[in-house]
Amino acid sequence: MKKLFDPWQIKTVKIKNRICFPPVVCYAWGTEDGYVTQENVEHYRKVAKGQTGLIIQEATCVDRNGKLAANQLGIWEDGQIKGLSEIADAVHKEGCPIFIQIHHAGVSGLDGELACPSDYSFYKDGVKKAGKEMTIEEIHKVQQEFTDAAVRAWKAGYDGVELHGCHQYLMCEFFNRWVNRRQDAYGEHRERFAVEILRAIKEKVPEDFVVGIRLGGFEPRLEDGVRHARVLEKEGIDFIDVSYGFSGEDDPKAPADFPYEKCIYAAAQIKRAVSVPVFAVNGITDPEMAQDILERTDVDMIDIARGIIVNHNWARDAMEGRDTGKCLHCRRCLWCENPDTCTGRKILEKNLQRKKEFIDNL
Ligand SMILES: Cc1cc2nc3c(=O)[nH]c(=O)nc-3n(C[C@H](O)[C@H](O)[C@H](O)COP(=O)(O)O)c2cc1C
Ligand code: SF4
Repeated sequence: MKKLFDPWQIKTVKIKNRICFPPVVCYAWGTEDGYVTQENVEHYRKVAKGQTGLIIQEATCVDRNGKLAANQLGIWEDGQIKGLSEIADAVHKEGCPIFIQIHHAGVSGLDGELACPSDYSFYKDGVKKAGKEMTIEEIHKVQQEFTDAAVRAWKAGYDGVELHGCHQYLMCEFFNRWVNRRQDAYGEHRERFAVEILRAIKEKVPEDFVVGIRLGGFEPRLEDGVRHARVLEKEGIDFIDVSYGFSGEDDPKAPADFPYEKCIYAAAQIKRAVSVPVFAVNGITDPEMAQDILERTDVDMIDIARGIIVNHNWARDAMEGRDTGKCLHCRRCLWCENPDTCTGRKILEKNLQRKKEFIDNL
């Protein structure tokens, strides 16, 4: 397990191992104003206490009209900085660095006429989403919102930001040629929307503040994902976290004998093409699998999302050779709507209780 527990760093941010808790939204604790609640703070404190190497805070919206859920956390106004700084402080006190994912839902937003690079509609969870082509002024406004959000994140004490550039949200929509059919410069160079945001953020924040991206590995195909990664590297991106792109408008492929998720294959291929750190995610269930992926693909960081929802102490338990628990891969993960419904966590807690009772009775 040596590699999984190897310390490393991104710029000046020291990371004690290769285990990252990637963004995982929880609307159960939020309110419509997007302000941080005490439950948010305690949740991230526990994840940090569990010896997690790095936390990337859940998708936090840059625009009150760009939310993916009514109670999503926000970073669109200065008043939100105080609550966000409580999360950053709590995590830092446990010796863990924290980035924040900054997000705009685009055509996957709540309702009404939704922002999208081109006129585009699709069904998400059975609900029709209708996107209207953004004007140049609208594009520039959202780019400014991302930049302002990054400055707020820096002021709140985060170590960096992750641009949300995958999973059917606005930045991802610009990258994907089957969604972005614009005839102007934002369609000709589909990285342009993200690149201009990256440049603007870099101008506003100190040199050591980390700016990374969560990118679709297949956007729509792997060669596009690799090209986007190369362009972003040239523009100074600090890390690339590789996930799936615009689901339904992508073409994920991996060799039949690749034993893990296709987007882990995409992360491996992107790692071969760039020299910035690359993170891999999806379906990584136990420490042995995490170690094998690190060795097989040469990626730098392993994201454990549902595994850490089930067990905040996943990293500590892995390090000390204990059972890390099991996500049951429920048909739909209901954790974000009600954390008490996580069956994997309930089973783990029951097992721990039984063990304690057994030891007490010895
Ligand atoms: C409840 C829930 C909420 C999520 N929220 C986000 C999010 O805010 N931003 C994001 O990029 N991915 C989000 N994801 C995706 C996870 O970060 C991760 O990529 C996915 O769960 C696969 O990793 P896993 O197999 O380790 O769970 C979410 C996933 C779940 C289950
Ligand atoms: S056990 Fe079910 S509810 Fe819990 S994290 Fe896994 S999928 Fe989500």
